[in-house]
Amino acid sequence: MAEDLIIDKSVSKAAQYKSLIPQIEALLFGESDFVANMANVSAALKEQFSWFWVGFYLVKEDELVLGPFQGPVACTRIKKGRGVCGSSWEKATTLIVPNVDEFPGHIACASASKSEIVIPLILDNVVIGVLDVDSEFLDHFNETDELYLKQIMAILLKH
Ligand code: SME
Repeated sequence: MAEDLIIDKSVSKAAQYKSLIPQIEALLFGESDFVANMANVSAALKEQFSWFWVGFYLVKEDELVLGPFQGPVACTRIKKGRGVCGSSWEKATTLIVPNVDEFPGHIACASASKSEIVIPLILDNVVIGVLDVDSEFLDHFNETDELYLKQIMAILLKH
């Protein structure tokens, strides 16, 4: 496995995902450790997109607990239904929040975070965690991110 990613930030967002996805598949190939794979997926996404914060929260009993991530320190535990992450868990659906200040109950781990996308990790119809991505720019995420991040989560879950 080559550990160096080939990163081109000058192309469209979709093109960046299309270049990154096979590299993530190669990175995860033959590795079944979920924590190691979440760690490398967060690192690869951070390297490609330079987002403010990208990482995982995992369902543990009645809470989400912080998992592997890249970015500043973050809240450790989030209750079901709380904030964007807890709402994505409760609804088992992707949430795109263009302006976090307008999301009722948003949990501000960092005041620099302005917009957010959360993708639930669903295994056998059960949400086992979420991928959370935060940007310091308003309205930074759209359906393109949802489409490709879901593909990346599917790759992660099949390993
Ligand atoms: N903003 C999130 C909390 C997690 S951090 O941003 C890393 C939320 O409202 O669920």
